Amino acid sequence: MILLTGGTGYIGSHIAVELLDAGHQVVILDNLSNSVCTVVDRIKTISQKEVEFYKGDVRDAALLGVIFKAHNIKAVIHCAGLKAVGESVSNPLAYYDANVYGSISLCKAMEQAGVKRLIFSSSATVYGHEAEPPYMETMARGSASSPYGASKAMIEKVLEDLSSSDPQWSFSILRYFNPIGAHPSGYIGESPQGIPNNLMPYISQVAAGVLPELLIYGNDYPTDDGTCVRDYLHVVDLAVGHRMALQTLEQPGVHYYNLGAGKGVSVQEMVDAFILATGVDVPYRFAPRRKGDLAAFWASSEKAERELGWRTRKSLVDMMVDTWRWQQFTSSENS
Ligand code: WQD
Repeated sequence: MILLTGGTGYIGSHIAVELLDAGHQVVILDNLSNSVCTVVDRIKTISQKEVEFYKGDVRDAALLGVIFKAHNIKAVIHCAGLKAVGESVSNPLAYYDANVYGSISLCKAMEQAGVKRLIFSSSATVYGHEAEPPYMETMARGSASSPYGASKAMIEKVLEDLSSSDPQWSFSILRYFNPIGAHPSGYIGESPQGIPNNLMPYISQVAAGVLPELLIYGNDYPTDDGTCVRDYLHVVDLAVGHRMALQTLEQPGVHYYNLGAGKGVSVQEMVDAFILATGVDVPYRFAPRRKGDLAAFWASSEKAERELGWRTRKSLVDMMVDTWRWQQFTSSENS
């Protein structure tokens, strides 16, 4: 049995389906702060399997005690947390509380239950602005550009210290690049609250007519077309990476993996790819740079390929088509 925190969220729900499809049993813990409980039914519909669900918070020690007592949990995948970069700047305490304290609370409960295997959702943002792409796992963590990024870096450090204090622990730290797309079934995907901050949901909402136009933040960066470059990967590939990382938990210690496609794509290329793949127009105009954005970064994905046998399989076209299918599904539900 695997405990999946944040399992009704965008990434967590895809991991749940991937685990169930591979024959794992899954318990989900989610406080539904950025998701809805109907996602549990959708996970069951897609996988045709049962899944246990607890509505609650990783900071609730008593609830964690109940869950670990009720289920024979072998490993934990920890995705629960807050993830809006801008919001973390205006409300840092909420971010350190949910992310850092939440992870500490989870580790305490795991220690008490004698479960010492954890996969942690980290982020490429921990490399900081000092790093030169492609980012490699051997590079040191750099300066975080936001409390969100700092919270991820702090948790990594907590896990490292825990591993040094007790060598029975095994941690797999997965540093995500830019996950996009949705499940090909069209039943689960990203549902940002309010106006999206991230590029892909913004593009799809403009295409659907929910938003009037896309602003491309900056066209004067030192990149081929002047727009920012990122490493986008399909959320289903990301979920597969978590399943494959379970094997690393057999080995005690701290294991780090970049989960990215290993190549950069510019904002302009993303917009063009969406229009080409879906045939739907996306009105856009150039706007000033967004504060805190780096010009370009992407992953070295060699370590994950070498050690996990993982690499991304889905194309940019898959990412666009699946995002659009999901957008149409959510638009039809809301109308
Ligand atoms: C991508 C590019 C924007 C919106 C952030 C976090 C990261 C991770 C993923 C997780 C940038 C440009 C965007 C728009 C635009 N967080 N853009 N117009 O900033 O690479 O990463 O999200 O949970 O930790 O930092 O992703 O999708 O926001 O932006 O031009 O309306 O698209 O400037 O170059 P980012 P993003």
